[in-house]
Amino acid sequence: LAHTQGQQDFNGKRILISGGGTREHLDPVRFLGNPSTGKMALALAQAASDRGGIVTLVHGPIAPELLPISPNYQLISVVSADQMEAVMMSHFVESEIIIMSAAVADVKPAYYTNHKLPKKELPTDLKLESVTDILAKLGSLKKADQILIGFAAQTGDIINPALDKLKRKKLDLIVANPIDKPDSGFGTDTNQAIFIKADGQQQPIKSCSKLELAHQLLDFVNLEKLRRRN
Ligand code: CTP
Ligand code: CA
Repeated sequence: LAHTQGQQDFNGKRILISGGGTREHLDPVRFLGNPSTGKMALALAQAASDRGGIVTLVHGPIAPELLPISPNYQLISVVSADQMEAVMMSHFVESEIIIMSAAVADVKPAYYTNHKLPKKELPTDLKLESVTDILAKLGSLKKADQILIGFAAQTGDIINPALDKLKRKKLDLIVANPIDKPDSGFGTDTNQAIFIKADGQQQPIKSCSKLELAHQLLDFVNLEKLRRRN
């Protein structure tokens, strides 16, 4: 691994991580969702807590077999983007490092019915509403001593859309993540990325396990922390 094994370089740091995908329900059995499994966020939470961080992981539905049996961090489970927003907001102020790796919905059905709709009553022109951009909201509230990190899962060109999101959401760092490669993206155990900092500095990370990528990201964050102190 790239990091020093057993290093406690995040000792006592409060680290807030989001992961998995949100679900926007139309009724109790139907939702708009995405293929995120939460593996990247689980790797980030494990890496950060193994390095001494006080970690909270806010996550959308994750398959039970992927969840750690006795995690050394706090897990808060949510379903919708609105719920994720509420939990992220309640933990944001006390957090020093915030990593938004969740695949959050962009839209939700305009109406929710609390009983299962018979299929003949399902709308053929589903009315949608936009969802709060949680990361952009955190970016606008961020204090100078907080480090805010986003993910940009992209097909095709990954750099330009990631740069745009980095600026627009006032991030310190973005993980540009190709999802159209066989060994990276949704559901895989490996991943690859380019880390991009607000000052333009870039670091490409070749395909590796999600845990290794998580440690690489923490190494990169550490450099950022040191730079700020000087
Ligand atoms: N994000 C968020 N809230 C949303 C949508 C996205 O916090 N409602 C965050 C994601 O967790 C990720 C970053 O914003 O860290 C980028 O998400 P992405 O879907 O790539 O960007 P969008 O701004 O939603 O743009 P688009 O879907 O058009 O690419
Ligand atoms: Ca999106």
